[in-house]
Amino acid sequence: MTESKNSQKLYIETYGCQMNVSDSEIVVSILEDKGYTITEDINEADTILVNTCSIRENAEQRVWGRLDVFKQIKKKKPELIVGVIGCMAERLKEKLLEEEKVVDLVVGPDAYRDLPNLLDTTQSGQKAINVLLSKEETYADISPVRLDKNKISAFVSIMRGCNNMCTYCIVPYVRGAERSRDPETIVKEVEELQAKGYKEVTLLGQNVDSYNWDKGVENKSIKFSQLLEMVAKVSPKLRVRFSTSHPKDMSDDVLYTMAMYNNICNHIHLPAQSGSTNVLEKMKRKYTREWYIDRINAINKILPNCAVSTDIMTGFPGETDEDHKETLSLMEFVKYDIAYMFKYSERPKTYASRHLKDDIPESVKSTRLTEIIDLQIKLSAESKKADLGKTFEVLVEGVSKKSTEHLYGRTSQNKVVVFPKNNYQIGDYVFVEIIDCTSATLIGEIATK
Ligand code: 5AD
Ligand code: SF4
Repeated sequence: MTESKNSQKLYIETYGCQMNVSDSEIVVSILEDKGYTITEDINEADTILVNTCSIRENAEQRVWGRLDVFKQIKKKKPELIVGVIGCMAERLKEKLLEEEKVVDLVVGPDAYRDLPNLLDTTQSGQKAINVLLSKEETYADISPVRLDKNKISAFVSIMRGCNNMCTYCIVPYVRGAERSRDPETIVKEVEELQAKGYKEVTLLGQNVDSYNWDKGVENKSIKFSQLLEMVAKVSPKLRVRFSTSHPKDMSDDVLYTMAMYNNICNHIHLPAQSGSTNVLEKMKRKYTREWYIDRINAINKILPNCAVSTDIMTGFPGETDEDHKETLSLMEFVKYDIAYMFKYSERPKTYASRHLKDDIPESVKSTRLTEIIDLQIKLSAESKKADLGKTFEVLVEGVSKKSTEHLYGRTSQNKVVVFPKNNYQIGDYVFVEIIDCTSATLIGEIATK
């Protein structure tokens, strides 16, 4: 560690999924070990890192916009180092250095351990890049520096990469092959979080249901349901969530484990993408509409109080009006509490970009997306209304933005509840009775029981 590095101030900005948020915490841990200090003031930074997403074109557009802003800052401060890390770094590689003069450093998601060396290189005025993907890297031994504000809820990465090769998806190209993290290191990280006062962990992976730790010892492989149980046993007062489940792999074992432990939250994010078997086949999702419905029926049977959220994509190549209607009817059937809804965006390298014409006109994509969003607003409102009169245990996360006399928190189902503060504090568990709601929020009062 050199003297000059000790005083380096790092500003990091994160786009994309929860996995990227978790990765930024690993990056900060690696760099703090080398003497960097984190700053929240961009104007004070010696190094700016932007952790990027490539999932849709507009995710990348936002980052290009930010690079323009960094360019202005660098004009006034030529010694500033700007690094692009994460999925967009992996996708565009040297092109980022060539096309965008402001960028000094490009680092892909599996090369973060090399960041201190690469930053040393940039400090001597050269550009630096490492976009090697790895079959093994899980950053298992690194203790992430938590960047969340409330110190209540933390992400814990349990696996990296993806082997699914859905035809629209860029993730396998930018995050490499799937690999699971040593469960002992996961449990240790969770225990440390609990000891620090955290009340909730979310286990993260692109497809948590295919988590599989196999050290080669016969009968010793650990599946997701077993990992979930190991984590749930850390403390009954520590809530456990996970994301993302894949409908083709989501087993009853996981549902039964959820039913056994009160602290495993009753919420499953189960991206459907489409309600049409024809479209699902073209997406190579490896399940049908009927299979998806069977999984929903299993959830409702084994976990009657479980909320389900989803991702829906509209305008995939060849999607007909009939297919679109099937998506709407699936949404009505499941009654999702929350849905993340997107227009199909063609991504370079994917099977769809090479073999399927992006043939749904923009205007049709927009109309279909509007119909999907309108339906979801109705379903979200209905799901909240169904909670009126019920009492939930709520984990307090913060003070309401609208009133300092109110707190907000989440139910096990991941629904946000606002309620009077009384003497409660962030991190407390409070029983709240629901007395009113909007389409996004439950409104409650302290339960008297
Ligand atoms: N275009 C639009 N949406 C996409 N998603 C993934 N790839 C694309 C794409 N090419 C959506 C899926 C996925 C979520 C994370 O992003 O719905 O579940
Ligand atoms: Fe996350 Fe995928 Fe975006 Fe990468 S491309 S940040 S894995 S959503």
